[in-house]
Amino acid sequence: MGSRLRKKLMPPVEILKIADIHQGQIILEVGCGTGFFTIPAAEIVGSEGCIIALDASSGFLEEVSKRVKAAGLSNVRIVQKDALKTELDKESIDKVLLFGVIPFPLLPLDKLLPEMHRVLKPQGTMSVWLFPPLVHNWVPKAIVNSNLFTFTGESRNIYNFVRI
Ligand SMILES: C[S@@+](CC[C@H](N)C(=O)[O-])C[C@H]1O[C@@H](n2cnc3c(N)ncnc32)[C@H](O)[C@@H]1O
Repeated sequence: MGSRLRKKLMPPVEILKIADIHQGQIILEVGCGTGFFTIPAAEIVGSEGCIIALDASSGFLEEVSKRVKAAGLSNVRIVQKDALKTELDKESIDKVLLFGVIPFPLLPLDKLLPEMHRVLKPQGTMSVWLFPPLVHNWVPKAIVNSNLFTFTGESRNIYNFVRI
């Protein structure tokens, strides 16, 4: 998940720029894995912002926790939860990141999208990275068809949406 080849093909800071992450935001990163995007995202949002790094797997979260400590960051909240039932407050999040989590591995859109809509602030945004893109190119249409999000643009397989 964090190989040198991936960093070359998918430089995390550039990808996060396409996702329009900026200082002071509260970001929910769904399925953070080993934290490939977590550390650079935390550096971008800075001390006024926060990354909620959520994953169902305790093993991945331990790895993220070590990386956060090593980077000396205090703005990452590590949460072990099912993304379909985050128990986060409603309308508390500026941006949701769904990177490498839909449609694989088994996060059904009909349950995930309402939960993401619930936690996002009005006008909050959601960015989705699809892999492999050509196989899953039906996903952006399905997100729009949910009538919960409007599509705002795509670059480098990052699809951006705004909450309706
Ligand atoms: C392919 S990895 C992507 C990791 C990371 N986003 C990245 O791009 O490197 C998918 C992640 O989703 C997590 N995951 C799968 N189902 C989940 C669920 N229902 N709730 C929360 N996390 C989940 C897995 O534990 C795994 O860390």
